Amino acid sequence: MKRTIEVRLTLNGEPRVAEADSRQLLVELIRDVLDAKGTRIGCLTGDCGACTVLIDGEVRKSCLVLAASISGNDVRTIEGIEGIEALQEAFIAENGFQCGFCTSGMIVAAADLLKNNPSPSRDEIRRAISGNLCRCTGYESIVESIHRAAHGTIG
Ligand code: FES
Ligand code: FES
Repeated sequence: MKRTIEVRLTLNGEPRVAEADSRQLLVELIRDVLDAKGTRIGCLTGDCGACTVLIDGEVRKSCLVLAASISGNDVRTIEGIEGIEALQEAFIAENGFQCGFCTSGMIVAAADLLKNNPSPSRDEIRRAISGNLCRCTGYESIVESIHRAAHGTIG
């Protein structure tokens, strides 16, 4: 039997209240109910990272979180993560995307890395995005993009 639950959260800095089905995933609530379409749905099995968001400052795959489990949490999607201009510019400069499907998840993961480690090595970058798949396989450009955002240049 379907059960509807009231979910309260802060989404990208704004208090929001929404009705969620008891089985609804957070990524579905974010996209379909709260209209933050920058978060993507890829696999829905926790493998691709397209749905990556921050919950209370932690990187999470929002397809692995039930919407009903959210209670007053701070949720940040690509639309609400501050200080990502350097990453966006670097992804453009380094051709860090092809179809772009993985890009918002990559940037959320990268933003979290740079917040905690402003000067990462390429290996540290690879580890930070290891939960994010790029179906276009543009990994080297993605790593270079994040490296450029962190270090301001190539090299
Ligand atoms: S849609 Fe969540 S990990 Fe793929
Ligand atoms: S750029 Fe297409 S999936 Fe990554």
